[in-house]
Amino acid sequence: MSRPKISIIGAGNVGATTAHWCAAAELGDIVLLDIPQVGDMPKGKALDLMQASPIMGFDSHITGTNDYTDTKGSQVVVITAGIARKPGMSRDDLLSTNAKIVGSVAEQIKATSPDAILIVVSNPLDAMVQRVLKVSGFPNKRVVGQAGVLDTARYRTFLAMELGVSVEDIQALLLGGHGDTMVPMPSCTSVGGIPVSQLIDPKRLQEIVERTRSGGAEIVGLLKTGSAYYAPAAATTQMVEAIVRDKKRLLPCAAYCDKEYGVGGYYVGVPVILGAGGVERIVELELTASERADFQKSITAVKELVAAMNALPL
Ligand code: NAI
Ligand code: 2OP
Repeated sequence: MSRPKISIIGAGNVGATTAHWCAAAELGDIVLLDIPQVGDMPKGKALDLMQASPIMGFDSHITGTNDYTDTKGSQVVVITAGIARKPGMSRDDLLSTNAKIVGSVAEQIKATSPDAILIVVSNPLDAMVQRVLKVSGFPNKRVVGQAGVLDTARYRTFLAMELGVSVEDIQALLLGGHGDTMVPMPSCTSVGGIPVSQLIDPKRLQEIVERTRSGGAEIVGLLKTGSAYYAPAAATTQMVEAIVRDKKRLLPCAAYCDKEYGVGGYYVGVPVILGAGGVERIVELELTASERADFQKSITAVKELVAAMNALPL
């Protein structure tokens, strides 16, 4: 039986780190693709990673390339190609450049891996995943965006730090777009089964929610030369694993919602069942009045972003 083929487009910080973790977890054979640049960066990173395998004990083959032929027949394609945020830039500043880049990636993947499931990571996420859906023409269950797993991980980390408990005991969920209007859901947050409202007072919880909302900007402010990549790559790897191992994980992902939550044909972060078929189901939750209002605000922000993208000459 052959191993799943996982292609990662964009061999920068998020792409290469995703390759690292997918290989370490033996999720499949990996192709790392980037555009030609000075040196042969994807080949160099792939070979370096392969040479870690005897020490770390993983049997994944990693190929570095500039040629889409090498990605042919991938089961999963992760799209991290594009430019990343610098200090002072919002995710939306990336809109025009990255819309062109992910569009050209989607064209090529459509030709080489027509049956693949596409995980989009490039920012601004909620618009880029919509663009990839349009250009690829794939069924919407096979095009999904990574944001909610990362945002939820940040929220869980901050809660664990606050309470001095293991991150493993924090269950939480975030909805909405991958932006400043993301919607942490205190009603779906518990610590070892105890509702978070019994452990943290509302004012402090709101501060943690705000820190989560600006979690990406906090890292950009510290790094100065780029944006987060360890946690984004870990989040992406969890999604790859859910698909290649058909785990049917319930994860918050950017999924195409039409009637669901009354969104009307846009990608927003919602809980989904992620498995071998991609987004196998969208889970609809009862929202409280304030969660519904916040979610609506987030959907409006996503619609404005997509409208701004659609107005560009792409
Ligand atoms: P990076 O700059 O380290 O890597 C991006 C790579 O894409 C570069 O190696 C570049 O050469 C490559 N690239 C550019 N055009 C390409 C093309 N046409 N085909 C193939 N490769 C191409 O950036 P990093 O940190 O890896 O971030 C990648 C993207 O992911 C950014 O847009 C960033 O904002 C986004 N991001 C999204 C997150 C999320 O949660 N959705 C989290 C973290 C980053
Ligand atoms: C993040 O949240 C930049 O979207 C990226 O870290």
